Amino acid sequence: MDHEELNKWSKRAADWALDYHAGLRERRVRPDLAPGEFLKRIQAPVPEEPEPVEAIFEDFTRLVPEAMTHWQHPRFFAYFPANAAPVSMLAEQLANAMAGQAMLWQTAPAASEMEALVVGWLRDALGLPEGFTGTIHDSATTATFSAVLTMRERALGFAGLGEGLSGAPRLRLYASAQNHSSVDKAARLSGIGQDNLVKIPTRPGDRLHSMDPGALDAAIRADLAAGMRPAGVILVTGGTGIGACDDLAACIEVAKSHGLPVHVDAAWAGSAMICEEFRALWAGVEGADSIVFNPHKWLGAQFDCSVQFLRDPAPQIATMGLRPDYLQTQGTGEVVNYNEWTLPLGRRFRALKLWFLLRAEGLSGLRARIRNHVAWAREACEAIRALPGFTIASEPILSLFTFRLGDEAATRRLLERVNRDGRIYLTQTRHQGAFVIRVQVGQFDCRREDVMAIAEVLSELSGDLS
Ligand SMILES: Cc1ncc(COP(=O)(O)O)c(C=O)c1O
Repeated sequence: MDHEELNKWSKRAADWALDYHAGLRERRVRPDLAPGEFLKRIQAPVPEEPEPVEAIFEDFTRLVPEAMTHWQHPRFFAYFPANAAPVSMLAEQLANAMAGQAMLWQTAPAASEMEALVVGWLRDALGLPEGFTGTIHDSATTATFSAVLTMRERALGFAGLGEGLSGAPRLRLYASAQNHSSVDKAARLSGIGQDNLVKIPTRPGDRLHSMDPGALDAAIRADLAAGMRPAGVILVTGGTGIGACDDLAACIEVAKSHGLPVHVDAAWAGSAMICEEFRALWAGVEGADSIVFNPHKWLGAQFDCSVQFLRDPAPQIATMGLRPDYLQTQGTGEVVNYNEWTLPLGRRFRALKLWFLLRAEGLSGLRARIRNHVAWAREACEAIRALPGFTIASEPILSLFTFRLGDEAATRRLLERVNRDGRIYLTQTRHQGAFVIRVQVGQFDCRREDVMAIAEVLSELSGDLS
């Protein structure tokens, strides 16, 4: 294919995309497909000779969408959303057209400088203090891993990078029992180890399920007394299971009293902080050293796009950055080379979709969507509470709540039925030992009636289970 043909096929793809999105409501949210079934349909030997694009395109339209879970479906209430505002898709097309690589300032000056601009816009939009700078990663997992590696090196006086960890003191990390598994992964892969990630219990009866700051302090003191070396605290705003929000002000005060750095995981809930009325959920966040949130979840930037704010980037650059000869930049003075802030060398031009999104939607447009989602989730929660046999297991935090129907067996059967039915898509978690079904509202195209359909579907499918 040459660029003339690409132009022709891009128009076909755009037409196809228009029909796909217009027809999403008529599709099941998740395909009714057994593992391996799709592979059987496309199985073929590696092509030796070129095939006409027409045939490949035809196979795509016939086979692939039917075997996809539709994240942009307005009745997708599972996991967290991965919104893709059309304007951010447009920006991705333009970034793809240039196919640049933003590892150094000089390999993509516009990408690097736009990254600084949009990170600053988002910092202001979320109400964070001016001093924070930051970078754009692929995912919150990478951002949290970078933050934990930095904690490790700060605790070791930056000796671990050279000497390794074999003779190092035993490092300790602290996080709420409500943290996402990306924190466990960071503890494991940083060499600190899962056993040295101390899970602090939540405060009994706390509406937001915050970790207990007193228990955090006690755990740090006990570790110090045992000769171990605390390295950092990871807090959460909007945990994945039930939306838990740590009491940031109190926990950061404890961390700082021990001289420990703090990373806040607000991968999902961070987007809601563009609305001033939700900022109480992360009161005290300005005391953190590092904060991650994913505009690719609730803000509408097409996946992937995760922003990490840093109070001072120097320790992370000292941990992650390397400048071999072939990456030296001649005659450019002091420029920011964002690969030194993160794990991969090669980087996509992710700032472009944020620049398009924030300009085209405006914060006012994005706030209106998030406020609707929160209000509709509360309505849906009340409608489910009113259904016979249903119990709300965790009350809404922003637009996330959980419920169950009778015992574990009935709740599991209901979830299976709902997802086999296909009109809506829900997933599960465990809360206080019980198997519960999660509902999160956040898909950009959903309307109030889509959200209210949740209770209708549940009522219809639960008749003989309660
Ligand atoms: C609270 C929280 N943190 C981290 C993550 C990991 O995000 P990512 O997929 O960007 O690595 C998730 C994913 O849903 C999450 O909910």
